[in-house]
Amino acid sequence: MQTPDEDESYRLEIRHGGARLTASTVVGALRGLETVVQLVTPDGDGFVLPTVTVEDAPRFRWRGLLLDAGRHFMPPDVVKRTLDGMAAVKLNVLHWHLSEDQGFRVESRKFPLLHQMGSDGQYYTHDQIHEIVAYARDRGIRVVPEFDMPGHSTSWFVGYPEHASAPGPYAIERRFGVFEPAFDPTREETYEFLEQFVEEMAGLFPDPYWHIGGDEVHPRQWNDNPRIVAFRTRRSLKDNDALQAWFNQRVSGILARHGKRMIGWDEILHEGLPAGTVVQSWRGVEYLGRATGMGFSSILSAPYYLDQIYPADQHYLADPLPAGHSLSPAQAALVLGGEACMWAEHVSAETVDSRIWPRLAAVAERLWSPPAVQDVADMYRRLSVMSLHLERLGLGHEAHSARMLRAITGQRENPDLEELLRSTMPATFGQRGRIQKTTQLTPLTRLVDAARPDPWLRWQMIQLAGDRNPAALEALGRIFRGWKALEPRIVRLADSVPLAADGLEAARGLARLGSLGLEALDYFERGSATAQWKETARARLTDLAKPHGLLRLAGAEAVTVLVDAVPQPAE
Ligand code: ACM
Repeated sequence: MQTPDEDESYRLEIRHGGARLTASTVVGALRGLETVVQLVTPDGDGFVLPTVTVEDAPRFRWRGLLLDAGRHFMPPDVVKRTLDGMAAVKLNVLHWHLSEDQGFRVESRKFPLLHQMGSDGQYYTHDQIHEIVAYARDRGIRVVPEFDMPGHSTSWFVGYPEHASAPGPYAIERRFGVFEPAFDPTREETYEFLEQFVEEMAGLFPDPYWHIGGDEVHPRQWNDNPRIVAFRTRRSLKDNDALQAWFNQRVSGILARHGKRMIGWDEILHEGLPAGTVVQSWRGVEYLGRATGMGFSSILSAPYYLDQIYPADQHYLADPLPAGHSLSPAQAALVLGGEACMWAEHVSAETVDSRIWPRLAAVAERLWSPPAVQDVADMYRRLSVMSLHLERLGLGHEAHSARMLRAITGQRENPDLEELLRSTMPATFGQRGRIQKTTQLTPLTRLVDAARPDPWLRWQMIQLAGDRNPAALEALGRIFRGWKALEPRIVRLADSVPLAADGLEAARGLARLGSLGLEALDYFERGSATAQWKETARARLTDLAKPHGLLRLAGAEAVTVLVDAVPQPAE
């Protein structure tokens, strides 16, 4: 079992006639082998490796992915292929979010009503967990379980309502958000239950770290329970944060008895937090500074939320310790690294590959490579290569849109919807929740689910709009004219393919964006545009950048670049 401080460095020398990989640990050798595989290129009648010397070591020792199996279950095969991809991009921690309001996902032999009543029958057996932990270890990846408490815990109370702070009864939560059920921190029975639970789970998860969640505790149940209010007063706990800190100390003691160090989300930061606890920053980078300022090791996640549906470059440029950061050297040394988060409100086993990949590879590079590696154009060039490598490993992101379109249309080919999805991306997390009012029971089988978060066309168009040479402008013109021609075809398709109607607003939006783009190109040709045209063009762009149905237009940024660049005549 590798440790969190494992030496992952390696040296690779490839010469004519041979290659030598040197590493002082098995994990280092695994990292080096992934580099060898990456360097293999088809050439003529065979495959070649370049002659190179690579001296490599990670910048951060904690490079992870959070996978949320609570809101939507992720079957073992999904977890395994995710681990294959993680190994390929040299990540080393799977943070496995295993309990939520919407589901409790692990078999418990001591407390069988947890999985029997809290999971809809969708949970991992002990054998499956042993197998996945071993599979991860073989790829140099640690598995850190998260059992979120005292909040985000409704599914526990379906079978064991006595551990909640209000009588219940409870049902699996189908909505998304922050809910009232919370563990009762005042009863000894709660800690006896958790002690036995941790003892059982410690046998499944050998890693020395254990994540208690600790985020977003709703105050209602604690405030409304007279026994809990009296407990708070008796112990001079000034508010619910102090009460949660008290709970955390008790849980930390339980974990310590089972050889585990506690990790929690940044809400757990409080005086009296046991030394050695690790704080994971999700509400903002500032919590990294606060946690390390109080002497706690910290992991950064705030800028790496894959569920937000931001483009890869945005994640890529977010550095845990950017140039000019304000942390002291002692604080910076406490920054262990980062984790991307794949929360699963809007993500199913069917769509998860397309939400994780290839964007996670950009986060992985940020956490491995020196801070000066920041060239976005080069990142996208390499991401495109890596994306095919990841597909070869069995990940479904590249084939995702076409495969889902076959399911949606019942047709082998659908060039119109394919073009629509090449040119659009899903609404952001917040937009989708507001527009669609998603719950756990919302089918994730619509056009928005078939769309991909950062379609290649988005960056290609940004580059073309930046280049603006004759060939680039010609290529943009073809795209704009294509969008205008697409709209009537999607309108016709919606008559026979019901879910094509999901794309009507986006098709209209693309046609309008295409018209605007063509106007900009026309002004380039003529040499200048009026200030008034620019002003109205910017207002049209603000509108076009909003969601169209549940889709956003992938070319909106590029057209903005173009509009901004059109010269204006001197006053
Ligand atoms: C979180 O996203 N609530 C940790």
